[in-house]
Amino acid sequence: MNILLIGASGRLGRALDGALRERGHHVVTVGRTSGELRYDISDPERIAALYRAAGPVDAVVGAAGHVPYKPLPEMTPDDWHSAFTGKVLPQIELVRRGLDHVAERGSFTLISGIPVREPVRTGSAAALANGAVEAFVRTAAVEIAPRRINAVSPNVFTESLPDFGASFPGLGSVDLKDVTEAYVRSVEGAQTGRVYAL
Ligand SMILES: NC(=O)c1ccc[n+]([C@@H]2O[C@H](COP(=O)([O-])OP(=O)(O)OC[C@H]3O[C@@H](n4cnc5c(N)ncnc54)[C@H](OP(=O)(O)O)[C@@H]3O)[C@@H](O)[C@H]2O)c1
Repeated sequence: MNILLIGASGRLGRALDGALRERGHHVVTVGRTSGELRYDISDPERIAALYRAAGPVDAVVGAAGHVPYKPLPEMTPDDWHSAFTGKVLPQIELVRRGLDHVAERGSFTLISGIPVREPVRTGSAAALANGAVEAFVRTAAVEIAPRRINAVSPNVFTESLPDFGASFPGLGSVDLKDVTEAYVRSVEGAQTGRVYAL
């Protein structure tokens, strides 16, 4: 398959790049300052330009999205807004603007994360953004068929524990290898409207 991988230079993205190539797919890498195609997906017009540059694809794989982590009393309206513009809107627009560029039986796979189901301190914006992504996936699946859409909602990556482990006490972790398997299930399988919680 011809796969557009957003966030390919990141921790998750690098693992996905390797796993998808290993399975024989052609991967086109995307980032703001890294990758073969350089586009900031927080700007909807840049998403449109990205699709024009990429041409037709079979799958869009999302591995980019930023939210602020802060104690709730310190959150500001700008913080809530940035959670939306950093993780929700870019992924929604990747789907909406990608409909004419993704094969009729192609797929979108979006990134969510554990704070939506396991509340942690400082994680309110992450919970909100991930909840929105997961809700979008369920409803979009109904409207974009036969194209498919799923979300991967991982725990902290084992490989990220040194950076973020302290914020997720007692929750364990998930190996990136298992996260990439969930993406493979989404890209190569038949399921749609699913959230893979790992
Ligand atoms: N790390 C974890 O343990 C963990 C666990 C569960 C879920 N997640 C989720 O997984 C996602 C990726 O995490 P990560 O740790 O792999 O992040 P990361 O290492 O910071 O990588 C982010 C990647 O996305 C690209 N990117 C960021 N903003 C972009 C934008 N606006 N437009 C285009 N590309 C953009 C970056 O490249 P450029 O800088 O070149 O743009 C980079 O390739 C995040 O949404 C995170 O919430 C992470």
